[in-house]
Amino acid sequence: MLPQIRDHSLLVASVALQIAEMARAKGLPVSRRQVEASALLHDLAKTYTIRYGGNHSQLGGAWVVNLTGNLAVAQAVIHHVHWPGEIIVQKHLLPLLILYADKRIKHDRIVYVEDRFEDLFVRYGINGHRIKLMQRSLKQTQAIENKLSQELEVDLYAYPFDSRGLVQ
Ligand SMILES: [Fe+2]
Repeated sequence: MLPQIRDHSLLVASVALQIAEMARAKGLPVSRRQVEASALLHDLAKTYTIRYGGNHSQLGGAWVVNLTGNLAVAQAVIHHVHWPGEIIVQKHLLPLLILYADKRIKHDRIVYVEDRFEDLFVRYGINGHRIKLMQRSLKQTQAIENKLSQELEVDLYAYPFDSRGLVQ
C-alpha cells in the first residue's frame, strides 16, 4: 500500500470511529472492530488499480472476502464510493459511515465534504461523464451527512473531528 493511502486510511478510521461512538451513544448496534477494519481496508486495492487499472472498491471488496470472509466489512469496502440503495442509517450504518468518513479526508487532512469533492473534480473531472458521476456522488454524500446527522443528533458538518493521534 502506498504510504499516502495508508495515512489517508488511518485518518478515515479515526473519523469513522468517532462517528461509530456517536452511534453507540444513540443505542445503534455498531462493531468498533468492523468499523476500524473497514476504514483501514477501504482502499486496500487502490495501489494495485493505480498500477494495473480496474475498480479499486470492487477488487478491494473481493480481496476482503477472500482474506477475512467478513461480508459486512467487504460490503463497506465495495460501496465506499457509491451507495447503491436507499439511505437508511438504522439498516446500513457501517457502509454509510465508511463512505462518509472517506469523503471527510483529503489526503492527510480532515476537510468538509465540499472541499474533498473540489479536489476530486480537479483530479478526476476529465470528461463530462466523470463530472456527472462526481456530482451525483457529492449529492449522495451530502444526503448521507444529513441523514447521519439527524439520526445521531450531531451536526456532522460542523463537528470538530480530531485525528486522535492515529497519524504522526
Ligand atoms: Fe477509495
